Amino acid sequence: MSNISGKAILLTGATSGIGRALALRLSSEGARLAVCGRSPEKMASLLDAITTAGGRPPLHATFDLASEQEILAFIERANADLGCLDILINNAGVNITKAPVSEIQTDHFDAMLAVNLRAPMIFMREAFRLMSARGEGHVVNILSSACLYSNETMGAYTAGKAGLDALTRIFRKECQPHGIRVTAIYPGGTNTPFRAKPRPDYMAAESVAEAIVGLLNLPGDVVPHEFVFRPEVEVNYP
Ligand SMILES: NC(=O)c1ccc[n+]([C@@H]2O[C@H](COP(=O)([O-])OP(=O)(O)OC[C@H]3O[C@@H](n4cnc5c(N)ncnc54)[C@H](OP(=O)(O)O)[C@@H]3O)[C@@H](O)[C@H]2O)c1
Repeated sequence: MSNISGKAILLTGATSGIGRALALRLSSEGARLAVCGRSPEKMASLLDAITTAGGRPPLHATFDLASEQEILAFIERANADLGCLDILINNAGVNITKAPVSEIQTDHFDAMLAVNLRAPMIFMREAFRLMSARGEGHVVNILSSACLYSNETMGAYTAGKAGLDALTRIFRKECQPHGIRVTAIYPGGTNTPFRAKPRPDYMAAESVAEAIVGLLNLPGDVVPHEFVFRPEVEVNYP
């Protein structure tokens, strides 16, 4: 039997790419989901796909993750509706622009940090409050293999992800006495709308979702800290 069946899972960035594939996969495993995204049209499409596949429509909301107020309201709704929070998956992420550090626009930098670093921090903090009260829980942060090397023009994106990487490592230690597991996931290139153009040589979103579900299904005495995986074409990256 799947570890995921019946679990209360909050997933961000569920309207596209990896998050959408994950929402569909977790729903098919019998998870009780609360999902958020930004685009109402894409959310409607996800809900349609879930119900067409025979799943129950999840609690859902669309809002900009730059708003702390909206994040807090969504977490409270999710906790009230699902009755608890077993797993938080911080998946939403954005790369608004690629630019050398010497040309990064401040508004782009702020917008990227808001989604890639500040929003997951708020979700982690609030999840800790809910999970520590029960003495159990699992927080999964989708980082990027970009954290692991220094790629020109990727400064703003990498700064947000590397910041979240640091926060995740510290959070893992702080969570351990409270029975909360913290997993950092570092996917390599994935063929999603995140990319400016299709990359069929990269991993499919469904394959990445499958890898994450496999990790959630590990035996209870195995605590996954870090998971790095890439498409074959990136095998030579450091
Ligand atoms: N694709 C890759 O090669 C790759 C590699 C490594 C790591 N990652 C990471 O994997 C995660 C998923 O990426 P993906 O490839 O699936 O990207 P994607 O297809 O572009 O999906 C990103 C998700 O984040 C949501 N989002 C973005 N900005 C938001 C905002 N301001 N407020 C609320 N939601 C927002 C999007 O919502 P809407 O679509 O509704 O706007 C969407 O659901 C991200 O954290 C990304 O950094 C991706």
